[in-house]
Amino acid sequence: SLKLAIVGGGSTYTPELIDGFARLRDTLPIGELVLVDPAADRLELVGGVARRIFAKQGHPATVTTTGDLDAAVADADAVLLQLRVGGQAARNKDETWPLECGCVGQETTGAGGLAKALRTVPVVLDIAERVRRANPDAWIVDFTNPVGIVTRALQTAGHKAVGLCNVAIGFQRKFAAQLGVAPELVRLDHVGLNHLTWERGVTLLDAPGAATGREVLPELLAGFGDAIAADLHLPLPLVRRLGVVPSYYLRYYYQHDAVVAELREQGSRAAQVAEIERQLLELYADPALDTKPELLAKRGGAFYSEAAVQLIGALLGTAGGSDVQVVNTRNDGILPFLPDDAVIEVPATVDAAGVRPLPQRPVEPLFAGLIAHVTAYEQLALEAALKGGRDRVLDALLAHPLVGQVELADRLADSLLAHNKQHLSWA
Ligand code: G6P
Ligand code: MN
Repeated sequence: SLKLAIVGGGSTYTPELIDGFARLRDTLPIGELVLVDPAADRLELVGGVARRIFAKQGHPATVTTTGDLDAAVADADAVLLQLRVGGQAARNKDETWPLECGCVGQETTGAGGLAKALRTVPVVLDIAERVRRANPDAWIVDFTNPVGIVTRALQTAGHKAVGLCNVAIGFQRKFAAQLGVAPELVRLDHVGLNHLTWERGVTLLDAPGAATGREVLPELLAGFGDAIAADLHLPLPLVRRLGVVPSYYLRYYYQHDAVVAELREQGSRAAQVAEIERQLLELYADPALDTKPELLAKRGGAFYSEAAVQLIGALLGTAGGSDVQVVNTRNDGILPFLPDDAVIEVPATVDAAGVRPLPQRPVEPLFAGLIAHVTAYEQLALEAALKGGRDRVLDALLAHPLVGQVELADRLADSLLAHNKQHLSWA
């Protein structure tokens, strides 16, 4: 049986994972689960619920909690990274100061996302180094945002790593429900970068895992266009004209100024999440709680446990055979207009031999332009995260399609540095 370590295991999200591990134990037979977190109080509460969920569902795995990363990752077959440097307080800043400059305040997009990348990359690389030292064969599965930049950092440093997000599996589940079929029958033609993707096609497979099926995106858009657009908060005519389904993160581009106006009116998502987390921790403290609470559905992480189980089960060879899953991995020519070492988010064949992205048909200029632009930004963001320095921060902002202008980039760079001093060794 397998040993898994979850770094950031004290997250209030963890019971979602545990619930998936318990339900999908045949795909991923875990014997030992270690939750690692520096926040001992949270870790105890979350560890308690995790044990109760496993016990209730008759899952045999032991759950241990620790603040000692090196001990936790020793002998681990896979290590999941789901940490948040600076917690919701740092996120709250990322979502707030860019608004003062008329730019979107978001945890992964724009200047706020850059701040998060700068704080996060060095921490994740240090953890990955320690994982590699403990067990060079262990797979690192990165949920830590910004997933594209963090995965690029890991892959560039030669780690055995893959990045994962729940946007694709969310669409798969939604489309399957609309079609009235099992999710295994729905394959996405998903292309782009993490949090910058489009569903260019949806195949209804003839059977699970089949190589044949039929294209159903036009009929989905015809029958459910309203619901799809409403869900994404995007205008229906835009979705119809594109003829593809953008992820909701594209709203930060297609309706940037409108989103800024909205965000200025409402409180930050970080503040909402902090309140949800406070309530969740109260629930977790109840020794009678032995299921994933309803309240967790208010977080953005739907289906992330299923995505994790499928991916890790395929990588460790317990899921049986190869599977096609949407992951974040090295480009290596799949999108020929991007450098090989860019990290893209596309369907890939996943099995014990690793992750092999599927070939992509040419990407339309309407999407390719933005993908290339943001890829260049991500490269500069990674350089700034690795080497530090205000000039590198400024370069990344100048390269970002939502910033671009020098006066704006200057102001944003100052705010970013002022708000993140305590998290940046070089600032
Ligand atoms: C989705 C995204 C994640 C992000 C989350 C935020 O799941 O794919 O990358 O972390 O939303 O959810 P939250 O509840 O923290 O706002
Ligand atoms: Mn994501």
